[in-house]
Amino acid sequence: MNDGHWMKLKKAVETVTARLEKTPDVAMTLGSGLSDAFGQPEGGITIPCSEIPGFPVPTIAGHSGEFWIGPLCGKTILIQRGRAHYYEGNTIEDVSFATRMYALLGIPTLVVTNASGAINPDFRAGDLVLLTDHINMLGVNPLRGANIDELGPRFPDMSAAYTPSLRAMAKRVAAAEGIAVKEGVYLAALGPSYETPAEIRAFGAMGADLVGMSTVPEVIVAAHAGMNVLGLSIATNLAAGVDPDASLTHEEVIETTRRKGAEMRRLLMGILEQL
Ligand code: HPA
Repeated sequence: MNDGHWMKLKKAVETVTARLEKTPDVAMTLGSGLSDAFGQPEGGITIPCSEIPGFPVPTIAGHSGEFWIGPLCGKTILIQRGRAHYYEGNTIEDVSFATRMYALLGIPTLVVTNASGAINPDFRAGDLVLLTDHINMLGVNPLRGANIDELGPRFPDMSAAYTPSLRAMAKRVAAAEGIAVKEGVYLAALGPSYETPAEIRAFGAMGADLVGMSTVPEVIVAAHAGMNVLGLSIATNLAAGVDPDASLTHEEVIETTRRKGAEMRRLLMGILEQL
């Protein structure tokens, strides 16, 4: 299994390298509803996932599945619009494929964004939250199988998977821009059903502030490969049962993300400038 994964990765990296003038400084993954937050910046190139051999193509609404690479905020940035999720039926190798490709391209920094449900009672729908850590409840680990030594060690340390200095910088940028940010632990649940109120109470007791269905596989492979990681979430809704009268819909998630898109963009631009 892993041999095939490694060959696919090498082929994808070759294909993308051939189209790059320069190694990007940052890879930024834009999740649910955020794909269009940066519009179509001037210049640069767009590579649809479908043009990269072996690359998994995202399927759900709100994920467009392409890469834009070009100049932004004085840097060379790769923007990934849309991501593969495990709940879509992708293998865990496919879910972490793009991030491993970034590591092999030599991109030093990963910025991941997502939408999440707020478990922490101090959080509100629409809050921007910097991820401090995660809890993996997916039941799988993208590093399972023979280790790819070219990427990183067999038993990688996850003590500081979310790079503390990047988070400190993001907080400074947010303060300077007058944007409120919180900090929290993100728990990845499998989905695609939203959680039950009992699950949310359990996750809260475990120490989770936010719940979502993505990001953790990407962060694990990024940390494995020694990349610096910044995670930023929009708490799009209160998690199940936090407001006993509320129900959860994907439309609400997309709507809140769109509503916060401009602020998110402003914060991310400030962060990219400082990187
Ligand atoms: N649960 C899981 N994933 C999510 C949620 C949620 O409440 N909101 C946005 N993504």
